Amino acid sequence: MQHSSPPPVSKRAINSEVVGFTPYKTDLVPRLVTCGTDQLCIEWDNGATSFFHYIWLRDNCQCERCVSRLTREQLFEICDVPLSIKPSSAYLNPQRQLVIEWDFEHHHSQYLAGWLQAHCYSDAAREKHQFQPQLWDKLSIVRQLPRYCAADIMCSETSLLNWLKDLRLVGISLLENVGTTPGTVEKVAQRISFIRQSNFGRVFDVKAKASANSAAYTTLRLPLHTDLPTRELQPGLQFLHCLINEATGGESILVDGFKIAEYIRRHQPAAFKALSQYPLSFYNKAVDSDYRFSAPLIGTDTTGAITEIRMANFLRGPLAIAPDQVIDLYVGYRLFIELTRQQRFQFTHRLSAGELIVFDNRRVLHSRNAFDLKQGARHLQGCYVDNDELNSRIRVLERNL
Ligand code: OGA
Ligand code: ZN
Ligand code: ZN
Repeated sequence: MQHSSPPPVSKRAINSEVVGFTPYKTDLVPRLVTCGTDQLCIEWDNGATSFFHYIWLRDNCQCERCVSRLTREQLFEICDVPLSIKPSSAYLNPQRQLVIEWDFEHHHSQYLAGWLQAHCYSDAAREKHQFQPQLWDKLSIVRQLPRYCAADIMCSETSLLNWLKDLRLVGISLLENVGTTPGTVEKVAQRISFIRQSNFGRVFDVKAKASANSAAYTTLRLPLHTDLPTRELQPGLQFLHCLINEATGGESILVDGFKIAEYIRRHQPAAFKALSQYPLSFYNKAVDSDYRFSAPLIGTDTTGAITEIRMANFLRGPLAIAPDQVIDLYVGYRLFIELTRQQRFQFTHRLSAGELIVFDNRRVLHSRNAFDLKQGARHLQGCYVDNDELNSRIRVLERNL
C-alpha cells in the first residue's frame, strides 16, 4: 500500500482541459491516493472516494504516445500491456493531478482531477450521469412547453443552446414568429447540423396530393405515430413548419411515448415485457422503394432505460414472432394504443401559419386530425435531423458558453 498527500493547492488550478476539448471542472480536490490489489482509491476533500482499476487507468492514459495530438483519437491498444499492470508509484503532484509510473515499460501517465471525477464509474456516479428526460402529460406540457422566438435561436448562440437543451430534456418545443417563407424549415434545422434525408425528400411538403405515397399526404386523420419506423434508425428530430392552415380540422396531437412506456412498465409489467422484447414489423412499399424493419415498440438500453418508441399503425406488417408470444404482444400493443388515445396524455395544438414545432421523433408520437379543404388550404414543410447532431451541437456550444 502506498499513501500520498501533497500540500494544499487552490481549486482553480485543477479546473482543466485535456486533449479532447471538453473542459472538466471540479469543485473537489483529491487529497489522498491509496493503492489496492487491482485498483486505486482517490479520496476527495469532501470525504467521498472514487475507485479506478489499474487496467482502466492505463487504458485511459492521455499522453501523446497513447492519444494522438492530431486526431485526439486513441493510439494505444490495451492488449499491448499485461492485464495485471500496476503502478510502481502513484501520487498527487503539486497541481493535484494523479501521476502514475507503471511497472511495465516505465510508462508515465497523468490524470486531471476534474477528468477523474467526471469519469468515476461507481454505481452512484453512473446513476448521477445517466440522462433523465423530463416526462410530460397534458397538464404538465401545457404549463411547460418550451417556446422560443425564431429570431433568437437563429441569431444568439445562448438561445440556441437553451432551445437545444430544452429539446433534449422535454423532447418537444415550439418556435414562434418563424414567418411563412417556404424553405425556412431547412435554415432552422441547419442551425443544428445536417438534414437527414429520406425517400420523401430532404424537405417534405405535407399537403393533400393527388398521388399520395403516404397517409400524411391525404386529408385523412393520422393516428399517433413515429415517422419512418420502417428504417433501422428512425430519424431523431422532426421539424414541421406551418405555412398555411386555413382548412377546418387538422389539429396536431402529440404524446410523450416515454411517459406511456413508463406507465406501462409500472402498471402492466407483462405488457411492458412483450412491448420491449418482441418485435413488431413495419413495411412501407412504393413503386421504387420497399422499406421494412422489425423491432420492439419500446426500445431499451442495457440499464433498462427507455431509448426509443417505434410506432405507426398504418405502416405495420404481419407479426413474425414465436406463436407463444403473439397474444402477449397483441395485449401490449392494444394497451399502448388505448393509452395514447387518452386525453390526459395528449398535447393538442392547432398549428398556425408561422409556427414550427420540433420534437424527438424517437420519443414523442405525433398525429393530426382529418381536415377539410373547403374552407382553405393546409401546407406544412418538414425535415429531420438525427439526435447525434443535436447532442454534438449541444456539447460544442457548451465548450464556449
Ligand atoms: C407526417 C405527419 C402531421 C400533420 O407528415 O408524418 O405526421 O400535421 N404530418 O400533417
Ligand atoms: Zn500513455
Ligand atoms: Zn408523421
